Amino acid sequence: MEDKNLTDFLELPDRDILAKTRPFFAFTENLINNKFHHWHRILSSPSERRVKILDNYTNTEREMVMMASNNYLGLTTHPRVKEAARRALEKFGIGAGSVPLFGGTLDLHRELEQKLAAIKGCEDAIIFTSGYSANVGCVSALVRKDDVAINDRLNHASLIDGCRLSGGTLRAFRHNDMESLEKVLASCDREFQGKLIIVDGVFSMDGDISPLPEIKKLADKYGARIMIDEAHATGVIGENGRGTPEHFHMEGQIDVVAGTLSKALAGVGGFVASSRKVVNYLRFYARSYMFSTALPPAVTGGLIAALDVIQTEPELREKLWQNIDYMLGNLKKMGFDLGNARTAIIPIIVGDERILKLMSKEIHEAGIFVNSVYYPAVPKKLSRLRLSLMATHTREDLDDTLAVLEKAGKKHGLI
Ligand SMILES: Cc1ncc(COP(=O)(O)O)c(C=O)c1O
Repeated sequence: MEDKNLTDFLELPDRDILAKTRPFFAFTENLINNKFHHWHRILSSPSERRVKILDNYTNTEREMVMMASNNYLGLTTHPRVKEAARRALEKFGIGAGSVPLFGGTLDLHRELEQKLAAIKGCEDAIIFTSGYSANVGCVSALVRKDDVAINDRLNHASLIDGCRLSGGTLRAFRHNDMESLEKVLASCDREFQGKLIIVDGVFSMDGDISPLPEIKKLADKYGARIMIDEAHATGVIGENGRGTPEHFHMEGQIDVVAGTLSKALAGVGGFVASSRKVVNYLRFYARSYMFSTALPPAVTGGLIAALDVIQTEPELREKLWQNIDYMLGNLKKMGFDLGNARTAIIPIIVGDERILKLMSKEIHEAGIFVNSVYYPAVPKKLSRLRLSLMATHTREDLDDTLAVLEKAGKKHGLI
């Protein structure tokens, strides 16, 4: 069957509100028929170094090397984490029963908040049911009509959505470009009441790190506050895995530290750590906190144990970094374009979307589970394969992946 683009399926305008779903359905069906559809692969095992998937093309269960999980330290199935989750389940059942303000706050939630605050070097913390809702709730509460949110262009969608909901103004600067940030700050200087610079600590599609010391200098110069999203930094960077501020020896200097509990911490949920005043304000003004039932007890119990594990078992982080160094070193040696990747997320820039489609299919068939990322998630010319490394990957997993990537890279002229 002929491979087509989404534009090939677009129809004339239709007054039916659901009409828009038809061309998209035809587009995804075409991908499936051509065996190019590798999203929503269904796992029948935990998200670990090797997974079992139900392959919808062959209708059979098969094993793959998992290179697409954010379970960076392997804690989803860590015995201490599972045991703590089991204990919380036994004691509290499966739900918290209410929104936090109206009876849904368990002692476990406060314990988790206090532990997160301590790890992030902040006075207090507030937890949300996802990293997405933490960012949306926090940004939309802090940025008001007369304020401006100044975002790195590659910030996560949840930060942008928070800005859109806020009623304030959204401005952006070029990725990690301090000249561009200063230009935006200077142009905003008199126009707005408050200024919030927002960056990812580690960028989710590029695996590079935000230059926090330079951002702090500019924030001080222009009287702006800083918010960082530590989704991919917590548990991964910094001497003790405390994230980007620790990596730059700047703990306690960042005004608002947000993050998710779903990646290295291996559960689900999000948090914002900050001063007591900011946290207190968010408890009443962050609508995604106010109007949403609190985290399930089992997850909360597991997360408390996960925070303990990241501090008491540094060997997990050391293993993760050995794996990162090994993969970055070998992929660079092969000649792949990895952008400025420096952490557990490794992009392999392909550029041409047709080549990326073919490579994804071949890599899937060869038993390696990686994600392919297309426009609009990344700029058109920077479509890519995206790998995530885990502490639990063995040398064999990494070598199997490298061999498949090298073969595909050579075949399609990338290296
Ligand atoms: C940088 C970043 N922030 C926030 C989120 C949202 O976190 P969650 O999946 O916990 O909602 C993600 C990804 O999922 C992310 O990559």
